Amino acid sequence: MCGIVGGVAERNIVPILLEGLRRLEYRGYDSSGIALLDSDGQIQRLRSIGKIKSLDEKIQNHSGTFSGHIGIAHTRWATHGIPSENNAHPHICNNRVAVVHNGIIENYAELKIQQLAQGYRFTSETDTEVVAHAIHKALSELQDAEAERPITDNAYISNERRSSSRDDQNRLVRAVQLAVKQFKGAYALGVVAIDDPETLVVARKGSPLVIGIGIGEHFIASDVSALLPVTQNFIFLEEGDVAKIQRNHLEIYNHAGECIEREIKQSNLSANAVELGEHRHFMHKEIFEQPQAVIDTLEGRITQEHVLISAFGFQAEDVFKTIQQVQIIACGTSYHSGLVAKYWFEDIIGMSCQVEVASEYRYRNPVIIDNTLFVTISQSGETADTLAALQQIKGLKQHQNIPTLTICNVAESSLTRESDLTFLTHAGPEIGVASTKAFTTQLVALALLLTCLGKAKGLLSEKREITIVKGLQKLPGLVKNALAHEDQIMEIAKTFADKDNALFLGRGTMYPIAMEGALKLKEISYIHAEAYPAGELKHGPLALIDEHIPVVAIAPHDDLLEKLKSNLQEVNARGGQMIVFEDEKSNISSEPGFKVVKTTTNVGRITAPITFNIPLQLLSYHVALIKGTDVDQPRNLAKSVTVE
Ligand code: G6P
Repeated sequence: MCGIVGGVAERNIVPILLEGLRRLEYRGYDSSGIALLDSDGQIQRLRSIGKIKSLDEKIQNHSGTFSGHIGIAHTRWATHGIPSENNAHPHICNNRVAVVHNGIIENYAELKIQQLAQGYRFTSETDTEVVAHAIHKALSELQDAEAERPITDNAYISNERRSSSRDDQNRLVRAVQLAVKQFKGAYALGVVAIDDPETLVVARKGSPLVIGIGIGEHFIASDVSALLPVTQNFIFLEEGDVAKIQRNHLEIYNHAGECIEREIKQSNLSANAVELGEHRHFMHKEIFEQPQAVIDTLEGRITQEHVLISAFGFQAEDVFKTIQQVQIIACGTSYHSGLVAKYWFEDIIGMSCQVEVASEYRYRNPVIIDNTLFVTISQSGETADTLAALQQIKGLKQHQNIPTLTICNVAESSLTRESDLTFLTHAGPEIGVASTKAFTTQLVALALLLTCLGKAKGLLSEKREITIVKGLQKLPGLVKNALAHEDQIMEIAKTFADKDNALFLGRGTMYPIAMEGALKLKEISYIHAEAYPAGELKHGPLALIDEHIPVVAIAPHDDLLEKLKSNLQEVNARGGQMIVFEDEKSNISSEPGFKVVKTTTNVGRITAPITFNIPLQLLSYHVALIKGTDVDQPRNLAKSVTVE
């Protein structure tokens, strides 16, 4: 949800900000803007509706006059107010302060009433404008207080020296510290003001923000990927931090206002990890990166025959021994990986496992019993509902043993910092809004968790552990083979060209995989798709079946295959068009009305859902290409949902 980037450098900052915005575009892409302090110390701003491309064109039309050494930029995913130029960030107050914001100021309506009474004018419908006004007000009050201070003991200071006195230099950071005290909600802020044209101030609470450390230059961004072309060294701000950033100087204040040091961490991501390479879309690139993502996620976590419990942290074994059941919380695609795991946990180690979407869980009064492992799953680690559910549970923890574990793709994200245990999926940056490789690696992580919990609790035999490990070792190859069916899937995708609806069927773990397939199709091709457990067909969806609804079925050779075949016949008898993904042993013949893809060899209980998901990803991708939609940035969606 929205991306921010900024910097202070000797060189012109505009190309760096634009590249940063392009790399953050996955977070939001309905409008964008940049504000700079020019050589006269005045604020210059350009904003544009639509993608970063149109902002870039606008800047080019300024024939090189839009440049500066300090600036902030923003790419927006609208929450308050439609996508429009007026609502695009940066927001400016009285040509004195410019602000970019990611998050939501929940009490903005109340603040707006107060600020209107104080004489502030509003030019947008956003919640962010109150931030600009609040900082402006604090700056004015601090300036007045400085002017009123008796100058007796400073009487020897000339006027010129007074204007650069310490108070004056710190005015912007103090103004931001004062202003943020009024805000309820979440924010990552970047602020510049004409009071101090050498300084960029940032603040963070509830939304991510990193500082990139260059040589004689500093940058800020919502995530490291935006700054990889300029630095590998980062400081991850903590909740409540405010930082004063200059070219050669950095001061960080914690929530209590104390000046503190934060560790500089080196990113091992390369700048081209977030470039398209030979692929047309990030989604395609990420689908094809899955064999490697699986290898990277398994590396150092398994031996030839065993899973290392320490992969979940050095205290994991002691924690796991106390666990009686698992509660999984997640959103979107991550929720679907949790649903697959529910089948695994209950079936393979006999441990009860509940799974719920975070936005429901956080607003009801869930009963959570002692010795529950509370697992949050998230690609970004910043999803607001998932984070809130975790925080709610942490509130209960004083009285109960409810250890928390996050399975996440982003180190140093909010969820990883707030959890007792963390498992990082090493999928690498995922840019396409529709999640693909993150899902696959989440399932790998959940298979490892299952094995470790089973071992710690004595619920899994060594023989079974070895079988799981051997299956996981084969997984990169299985995924690769499934990817090799792309040409066949491209052909099948044509079936969807003129369709408005589709149905996905599966049984057992293939039911959540059907849900994930339907979600992918909806997200990127805008075709309405629903998933059903195949046994539920006759309780309603069968009424929908006719030749206009393609029905996608996932049919591995397992205990439920014969039952699934009967369900497929029910569809076929009513004129439905079947697209079936099977394995080498399933033996579903390509009779009229059936298009069958032999996706894989006969796969195991853990490897099957991961492998069968691959052709569904390719199917939605190729349908989206035919439909001509924006594959990587589908309308109305954003990758990292840091607002409710
Ligand atoms: C958004 C994304 C989905 C993602 C979901 C949960 O809706 O578009 O792809 O699955 O958020 O995100 P998370 O980062 O928590 O996995």
